[in-house]
Amino acid sequence: MWSNSCIFFVILVLSFIGENLCQTTPVWTYECIEGYCQKRRITPGSENTAISLSACQLLCSGYGSLWPQPTGEISIGNVLVHINFNSIDILEGRGENSVASLIRAGGKNFKKQIESLATPRAINSGGKSLIVTMDIADPEKTQLTLDTDESYSLKVSETSDGRMNATISAPTYFGGRHGLETLGQVIIYDDLRDQLQMPKDVYITDKPVYPYRGILLDTARNYISVATIKRTIDAISASKLNTLHWHITDTHSFPYVSTSRPELSQIGAYSKKKVYTPSDVEEIVKYAKERGVRVLPEFDAPAHVGEGWQDTDFVACFNKQPWQDYCVEPPCGQFDPTRPKLYDALENIYKDMIAQFNPDIFHMGGDEVSMSCWNSTPSIVEWMKAAYGWDRKEEDFIKLWDVFQSQALERFDRQAGKKIPIVMWTSTLTKKEYVEQYLPKDRYIIQIWTTGRDKVVSELLDAGYRLILSNYDALYLDCGYAGWVQGGNNWCSPYIGWQKLYDNSPAEIGGNRKNQFLGAEAALWTEQVDDTSVDSRIWPRAAALAERLWAEPTTNWRAAEPRMLIHRQRLVNRGIQADALEPEWCLQYEENCPLGGKFNRP
Ligand SMILES: *[C@@H]1O[C@H](CO)[C@@H](O)[C@H](O)[C@H]1NC(C)=O
Repeated sequence: MWSNSCIFFVILVLSFIGENLCQTTPVWTYECIEGYCQKRRITPGSENTAISLSACQLLCSGYGSLWPQPTGEISIGNVLVHINFNSIDILEGRGENSVASLIRAGGKNFKKQIESLATPRAINSGGKSLIVTMDIADPEKTQLTLDTDESYSLKVSETSDGRMNATISAPTYFGGRHGLETLGQVIIYDDLRDQLQMPKDVYITDKPVYPYRGILLDTARNYISVATIKRTIDAISASKLNTLHWHITDTHSFPYVSTSRPELSQIGAYSKKKVYTPSDVEEIVKYAKERGVRVLPEFDAPAHVGEGWQDTDFVACFNKQPWQDYCVEPPCGQFDPTRPKLYDALENIYKDMIAQFNPDIFHMGGDEVSMSCWNSTPSIVEWMKAAYGWDRKEEDFIKLWDVFQSQALERFDRQAGKKIPIVMWTSTLTKKEYVEQYLPKDRYIIQIWTTGRDKVVSELLDAGYRLILSNYDALYLDCGYAGWVQGGNNWCSPYIGWQKLYDNSPAEIGGNRKNQFLGAEAALWTEQVDDTSVDSRIWPRAAALAERLWAEPTTNWRAAEPRMLIHRQRLVNRGIQADALEPEWCLQYEENCPLGGKFNRP
């Protein structure tokens, strides 16, 4: 296989131009001992039986190199066969129907991922054909909802005429796509032979524990390009998360191009290029759906508004100083609920967003409303007194907030034509004394951003709310950088390592009310992030959360560490600039990894 002439050529080339143009004789093989891949010298004469690292990783331990770990049956046979990249076909099991175009897109994407395994090396030709059949039981279910069945089963076997037969059966496309991702993860690139290989026999059944598995991306503090948003979606789907929560507007900028109110982005975007046009949004929503991902739009209000609204009289305290008195970071800005025309503007934006996103759930924000902003605006205080005889206590401003929220919801519902679930952040309004009066639990889902141990979590669970967990002490990806509104480091420092995301368990936090957790979400607020650093802030840390939410493993991050390193490498192969966690040495000497290796596993 590695002929003498090749070796001779290498020596020649090396000595003349210093560059290795030919495959060198392999030195290392990998052996699986006690569930760890161990790096060994190849003994002379045994080159043909050398095992590549990727083959060892796939076959060495129970979950192989799969991420997240499957939750059902798993059996991966240990015979690998060489498959032919140019002979992979994806078939729709039930012929032409509404899911067929999604399957075609999913299949195309799958082949791209397989090809990236080899990059920048070449794939040797030859090998067996692979036929992938996607058998989707309900081809009409093409929208992801909180009730979507995302389960799948994957069976790989050889047909009697020597082709590889992979059959993915799933109730919906969303499950089927997860199956395709899993299939993609059992196909490996053997860099000793430059071949694509896959196990001859595979049987996996799998489904997620939580229906909501998200990443929040803020595109208002700094603009994030469409290409980066798409790359983020690629990594979301590679990790079997299913939601991109798009915090699209904020006080700092208004990049969302509203067809009904184009002046908002004309005035409010950082530049005329830093916007999301209707066709950008359409492209992102379609791209996400093909990858099994919902895009959840957030139009945060009544706080977190400012830029873009300058020509209206709807915003109070915009850029008011000293900002510390009226908001948590500059610039301040908050809707004035007493302006009747405000609600027409909101309704226009809801209409545009509903048409473009076709959301199954919608986020209305509702965080960090400043009572002192409203209190410092004489016309608001006078209106409260004149209209309702309200005073200036917290409970009075809560009533004012309710004036806003009730009307906003009514306008939203009118445009949606049905009552879809609304998500809101924890805030003063979600405190025990107010929440049930103002936010009916059959309508609102509460997203937690306080700490996981905060008593508001158990209070909301006891009151019967459905929750999404984004506790900042484990799931805020922006923590641990320089301060920018204060000296020292930023407010939620220190940096949160992937291990903490992995071990942040909704089931543990929820106790016997864990079923009220729809799931969780890692949040990337972008005050200190832009296109240059989105990938490395989110990945691979959010993938740690992905396994927690998919599988709720009873083990902690230590058991997952070798696979985490493999998955991080997978993301990098697919073009995601995921952060390095450890020296590559740890990937090659699994048993000696200082933390999760065999000398440290509990
Ligand atoms: C491929 O596998 C599926 C599921 O096991 C089976 O139903 C089908 O008959 C197989 N196809 C061929 C051509 O062997």
